[in-house]
Amino acid sequence: MKLFTVHPVWPIFLSLWASQCGTEDNSSDVCQEDMNPDELNILSSSGQMEYVDKNDVNETFSCLLYPRGLLNCSWSFQTLEKDAQLSVHINVCNGNTRADYWNIASKDGVGFKYWNLHAEFKSVILEFNMSLHDKWTSYTYMYEMELLEVLSPPSNISASVKDKYLMVTWSLPGSRTTTNPQCFEYQLDLGDQEEPKNVTAKLFYKDLNDPTRTYSVRIRARKNKECFLSHVWSDWSHTVWLDQSRFKLNTLVIISISLGVPMILLAVLLLVRHQRVSELLFPPIPCPPPKYIYFLERNDPSSFVHLAQPAKVEEEITEVEDTKENAEKTF
Ligand SMILES: *[C@@H]1O[C@H](CO)[C@@H](O)[C@H](O)[C@H]1NC(C)=O
Ligand SMILES: *[C@@H]1O[C@H](CO)[C@@H](O)[C@H](O)[C@H]1NC(C)=O
Ligand SMILES: *[C@@H]1O[C@H](CO)[C@@H](O)[C@H](O)[C@H]1NC(C)=O
Ligand SMILES: *[C@@H]1O[C@H](CO)[C@@H](O)[C@H](O)[C@H]1NC(C)=O
Ligand SMILES: *[C@@H]1O[C@H](CO)[C@@H](O)[C@H](O)[C@H]1NC(C)=O
Ligand SMILES: *[C@@H]1O[C@H](CO)[C@@H](O)[C@H](O)[C@H]1NC(C)=O
Repeated sequence: MKLFTVHPVWPIFLSLWASQCGTEDNSSDVCQEDMNPDELNILSSSGQMEYVDKNDVNETFSCLLYPRGLLNCSWSFQTLEKDAQLSVHINVCNGNTRADYWNIASKDGVGFKYWNLHAEFKSVILEFNMSLHDKWTSYTYMYEMELLEVLSPPSNISASVKDKYLMVTWSLPGSRTTTNPQCFEYQLDLGDQEEPKNVTAKLFYKDLNDPTRTYSVRIRARKNKECFLSHVWSDWSHTVWLDQSRFKLNTLVIISISLGVPMILLAVLLLVRHQRVSELLFPPIPCPPPKYIYFLERNDPSSFVHLAQPAKVEEEITEVEDTKENAEKTF
């Protein structure tokens, strides 16, 4: 919470302080000095001067130029003796002229300074001066702009699936210093918990083991070692979700066909058999012959049984007699 509230105020304070310094000190010829980009120049109050490799000193510092001109320089001089002072001078040079600069007193030897550079520039010269009483040691180092640059992430990312292959294409990352496609390398994160894939081309293929899975694709870029000694990746691009709606549609169609066809057949069968089924479920109420309706209307079951049976017997008797008569006739 403390850091959060301090951060926005600190640069404003620094900018007021440093711009005041700037008006006093406009005559620096630091940009006119001939400097070797890869060497750290160490100068001390004893008059000694030496050139060493930047990685051979215990103190660390670096500058990065982000897209839209944000320059961020940071340093860590943790070996600074107690009570020693560290002053930091950041000079932005456009050729031999100084385009911008900041002078910062760094009390604990660790800090960073960032601001938006609107001026054209070609290099940044950092000066660190460690002083204690009347002794001092200064470090001077020059960065060429190409080496500071952090690319803006690739844009126009498109991911598609063709014949079980995942295909990803993208546009070149944004750079101030090069548009040569062979100067970039990329990392692809497919959202699959595996480590990012290293890619040098502008096209990426992957054989999908599970084409129905949802893939998310994001890419970052940096300049490669063949063109620049750069090592900082750009931000990740926005994430593209792989459009697998075609696959989902196909599965839907297959599922609906495999389930739907039997259902339709079943429905047709039911319609055809509806008649019989309804007969089984709701059998027709038997309708008595007209000659019994008289008895039914009288609502007297005993008389119905009593009178109906002799009538049936009579009928049977007459039938038997008929057949006997017929049989006699034929013999
Ligand atoms: C500092 O130099 C710049 C250009 O080099 C100039 O525009 C500006 O007026 C100078 N400032 C002062 C205070 O001399
Ligand atoms: C860096 O630090 C180590 C241990 O703290 C020390 O031995 C070494 O001399 C230092 N190197 C330089 C160049 O100051
Ligand atoms: C500048 O660099 C420092 C040190 O690496 C970092 O903490 C800080 O967040 C950076 N600021 C910006 C705006 O990138
Ligand atoms: C370093 O700082 C000391 C004390 O402020 C100063 O005398 C000296 O000239 C500075 N050295 C350089 C190279 O600027
Ligand atoms: C993105 O693609 C469109 C159309 O293909 C193109 O016009 C545009 O320039 C591309 N953007 C970048 C940054 O390359
Ligand atoms: C990709 O490159 C980075 C550094 O360049 C390396 O650490 C990593 O192991 C590489 N990954 C693969 C899968 O080769």
